[in-house]
Amino acid sequence: MKFQSRRAICFAMGTMILCLLGTARARSQSAKTGTDQKPQMSEEAFKNIQVLRGIPVDEFMGVMGFFSASLSMNCTDCHVAESAGNWDRYADDTPLKNTARRMVLMENLINRADFGNTRLVTCYTCHRGFQKPEVTPSLAEQYGPPPPADPDQVEILPGTPESASAAEQILDKFIQAVGGAQQLAKLSSFTAKGTYAGFDTDFHKVPTEISAKSPNQLTMTNHLPGGDDTTTYDGREGWIAAADKPQPLIMLTGGDLDGARMDSDIFFPARLKQALTKWRAGFPPVTIDNRAVQVVEGTAAGGTRVKLFFDKESGLLVRQARFIDTAVGLVPLHIDYSDYRAVSGVKMPFHWTLTWVDGQSTTELTDVQPNAAVGAAKFAKPATATSRGPATR
Ligand code: HEC
Ligand code: HEC
Repeated sequence: MKFQSRRAICFAMGTMILCLLGTARARSQSAKTGTDQKPQMSEEAFKNIQVLRGIPVDEFMGVMGFFSASLSMNCTDCHVAESAGNWDRYADDTPLKNTARRMVLMENLINRADFGNTRLVTCYTCHRGFQKPEVTPSLAEQYGPPPPADPDQVEILPGTPESASAAEQILDKFIQAVGGAQQLAKLSSFTAKGTYAGFDTDFHKVPTEISAKSPNQLTMTNHLPGGDDTTTYDGREGWIAAADKPQPLIMLTGGDLDGARMDSDIFFPARLKQALTKWRAGFPPVTIDNRAVQVVEGTAAGGTRVKLFFDKESGLLVRQARFIDTAVGLVPLHIDYSDYRAVSGVKMPFHWTLTWVDGQSTTELTDVQPNAAVGAAKFAKPATATSRGPATR
């Protein structure tokens, strides 16, 4: 896809003409979507976009999550109170919204002027989870216990040899752990039923349905009280159709599209090695839930960094962490897998918890039908959901 001209993200604010977002984002935009279809841009979808123009709707929502996470604010803290339950009111301006707009410009200016246009300063760099950044160092912090290490943030130490073959060995062990290449080859599709619980269901369990087909087609539908929420990946393109999203049908782009592909590959891991490139291992030891894990990293087609965490003992995948690029910074997301059970000789996670800046949800499978007949229509672009406004938060 040809991305919109960089002019589209130059904008006028007051009397100043500013064009600051441009260069920081001039990265492989052609890989943004795996298709020639054009995603809907923020300024087309929304009513009052002054700064974050020229980015697809899914990325725009990622930016909102990045803001919320960086300042520990809820959506309605920056937006008017009436925006709870009403997407239209998100367009209303507030002093905090206007400050946030200025801050986006400042972030780009600092990175351009002082850091050679590398995005080293983001909302989080200063705010660190506070609405107002700290100004004075804290002695309590200096002499207190360090905050717990986040396994998602682990990096290969300088001077440590990075090794693609060590990564491949860990991936091979995983293939063995789930049943081996031969067994995997026998699983060509499955359908599953189970439950979903998240913020959007008030953490009550609702029915969920999954259809998947090798090598990488996946569709998941959560039956929320207000209407279905469907995520589909057809092997090339992906969408979310949901009644509670700001747009009833959102095309997945960039890191979200890479993620949809990754989620489907996890269920048919025979081709996992081909799913990502630039495999690396050599990360320092980390633990998740007090268990030693081995970390490998790969890069998805759209440039998204993906870290996979394998239980050192069992070899099974316990976490996938990915870093989704947006106009203001990388949005972290991870999925924790557990309760592996054999389905026609292949071990499959029956429980996973997805955590990202905009919520946490858990899916549990109760019933999996291996090699069920799944028609192509299951993975077609979903019908547009009937909008019913945001879940309140
Ligand atoms: C730190 C402040 C801040 C937080 C927190 C925040 N937003 Fe925003 N939001 C903005 C700003 C600023 C804009 C306008 C962007 C622009 O002008 O380019 C905006 C615009 C929007 C719009 C477009 C409205 C329209 O029609 O013009 C939507 C939808 C939205 N936000 C949703 C959310 C959601 C959902 C969350 C929580 C995940 C959220 N926002 C959290 C600052 C914030
Ligand atoms: C270079 C440091 C820095 C960066 C980067 C930064 N901020 Fe700020 N931000 C500040 C400071 C300092 C204040 C003023 C706090 C005060 O008034 O005490 C502030 C204030 C704010 C406020 C108003 C808070 C209030 O209660 O009045 C919002 C909203 C905000 N920033 C959002 C953002 C967003 C969104 C980003 C990323 C696009 C961001 N900031 C990036 C330093 C930064």
